[in-house]
Amino acid sequence: MKDKALTPKFPVMLHGGDYNPEQWLRYPDILDKDIELMREAHINVVSLGIFSWADLEPEKDVFTFEWLDRVINKLWDNGIHTVLATPSGARPQWLAQEYPEVLRVAEDGRRNLFGHRHNHCYTSPAYRERIRIIDTKLAERYASHPAVILWHISNEFGGECHCDLCQNAFRHWLKQKYGTLDELNHAWWSHFWSHTYTEWNQIHSPSSIGETSIHGLALDWKRFVTEQTRDFMQWEIDCVKAVNPEIPVTANFMEVFNYGLNYYELCKPLDVISWDAYPDWHVTWGNDRVGMIASLSHDMMRTLKHRSFLLMENTPSTTNWRGVSKLKKPGMHLLSAVNAIAHGSDSTMYFQIRQSRGSTEKFHSAVISHTGTGNTRTFREVTKVGELLEALTAEVYGTNAPAEVALIFDPETKWALDQCNGPRNSGLDYFGALFSCYHYFWMRGITVNIADPHEDLSRYKLVIAPMLYLFRDGFQDRVRKFVRNGGTFVSTVFSGIADSTDLVMLGEATEEKLSDVMGYWIEETDALHDGETNSMSAGRYQLTELCEILHPTTCEVLETYDQDYYAGYPVVTCNRYEKGQAYHIAATVPEAYLDELFEELAGELNLTSALPENVVIPHGCSVTWREAENREKLVFIQNFSDEERTLSLLPDYRVLAVSEGAQMESSSITVGAFGYAIIRVK
Ligand code: GAL
Repeated sequence: MKDKALTPKFPVMLHGGDYNPEQWLRYPDILDKDIELMREAHINVVSLGIFSWADLEPEKDVFTFEWLDRVINKLWDNGIHTVLATPSGARPQWLAQEYPEVLRVAEDGRRNLFGHRHNHCYTSPAYRERIRIIDTKLAERYASHPAVILWHISNEFGGECHCDLCQNAFRHWLKQKYGTLDELNHAWWSHFWSHTYTEWNQIHSPSSIGETSIHGLALDWKRFVTEQTRDFMQWEIDCVKAVNPEIPVTANFMEVFNYGLNYYELCKPLDVISWDAYPDWHVTWGNDRVGMIASLSHDMMRTLKHRSFLLMENTPSTTNWRGVSKLKKPGMHLLSAVNAIAHGSDSTMYFQIRQSRGSTEKFHSAVISHTGTGNTRTFREVTKVGELLEALTAEVYGTNAPAEVALIFDPETKWALDQCNGPRNSGLDYFGALFSCYHYFWMRGITVNIADPHEDLSRYKLVIAPMLYLFRDGFQDRVRKFVRNGGTFVSTVFSGIADSTDLVMLGEATEEKLSDVMGYWIEETDALHDGETNSMSAGRYQLTELCEILHPTTCEVLETYDQDYYAGYPVVTCNRYEKGQAYHIAATVPEAYLDELFEELAGELNLTSALPENVVIPHGCSVTWREAENREKLVFIQNFSDEERTLSLLPDYRVLAVSEGAQMESSSITVGAFGYAIIRVK
């Protein structure tokens, strides 16, 4: 089934990226040549104005939009649309000079000097006022231009400011939340070490030279930072929507692991989800792993609005900010684009169209390199992506991927685990816990939503909560209802330990701890040193990191510890609860065990997968699907390995696109290294 178009004015798969003509205004020939090359590369959209404030308003209240008029019009004459950015991601010198309050203050109280980008206070009234003026002017000038299809609000919102304005806003936010200091002191457990607050203005954001021991404060500060960022973003959205509410808005997010912000909250005012994916291809530990992590991020972006999203940035070849800047090997750029589309993207867009000549990004790759020609391998691969997107628009654009499985990812749990002081300060691998639960489904082509704890669970058959340390905001009631109605729930070690302000839940077996659903109570948790193991299944599976010692009440015990003084205690349990069942895995188990458990559950729950069970997915490959009309499947076969791979026993299929050299037989397909095949099956 197709959803409403992300960009109704131009409802096709988008191909393009960040274009920075303001860096090239002294080179008119280059700008003309760029447009020719864009057409050759099948580019149909560019993002303009992201960092152009100084060229749009060189002095306070002096506006110079003429160059942007020329660029937008010339691109439009050549059939290229515009995603127009608001310029708040980087401010001009004059603004910081006149209003020093716009510059961020670090956690140690030092105000930044002018420099870099994303260095502004979201609370500052001066910043908000100047951005209101420029955003409104941009909207008045361009929001009805036929070329403009989408607003790109700021750039990669992130970071935090600790200035006095922010401290006061934080205190105000806390007053709204807690009402009284008594409530706050209890929620934060601040009688500990005599840190009790007796006046609101004693509250200060966490700082390495101040308060770091009050965990509730740290959690609330991070929530406030997300809220303040959202409020600033809303401010900008209101400015542009006031002029023309018809143009949708997006803000380019970063990867899931940028957990400084809670995207599940931040995304609420946006019409369209978009994000910037920079997978670390060609690392020594394997492209299939890199592909899996990228896939999980794509799945999260799709889950935010339960529909397709835009890949707003990816690199045509290499980044320049990693320890080692690897080029994408032949084929990898196409595979990486296919991977994003497979998981729900309706675009492939780049940072950047033309490579900068100087400054900090001059060695970041671009569609058009310093050579200024189309005669590069990167340019040719980009062109192939453009052709592919054109070919896919009719069947793929706007289709969704219904998920029967949810993997719960809670950025707030990550924040809490990072500061939890025990049981394993040398590493509580929250992301590792997510990845190992995701692996089986990713490989097998069973769509997984990466959902936060507020998700309505009734749409799923299977809900997995890896290391969900915080049970907050009524999550327990949603799980109870889900299992009661026949759902299968799986939690893993160190879940359900603390509540929303990081207060540990009291009691042995309690409803707050979901003990009625899970059927056990936990006595204590042992931590293992790096390299130390326990095991289960007579040594078949090695256990690492954390081992809970638990007592069954009503659950069945499926696996027990082999060793140590808790040998014989349960590791894996299953509790029947009304119409459903709840599993718990009480130790850090290897991915191989989870693969087997989830394979069993996938069969038992009859989970929909991209391809029938008898099709073996070769090592290094994954399959994914989006739903075509007539309930047919658009299946994306992706080979992340650097060797040829064959999938046999395929059902009747029709080819939509394949990588170069792929061989198709009636019931098999062979693709080369970093190859792909996109097929349609009944
Ligand atoms: C992104 C950013 C772009 C560019 C790119 C380089 O995070 O939004 O402006 O800097 O990284 O990889």
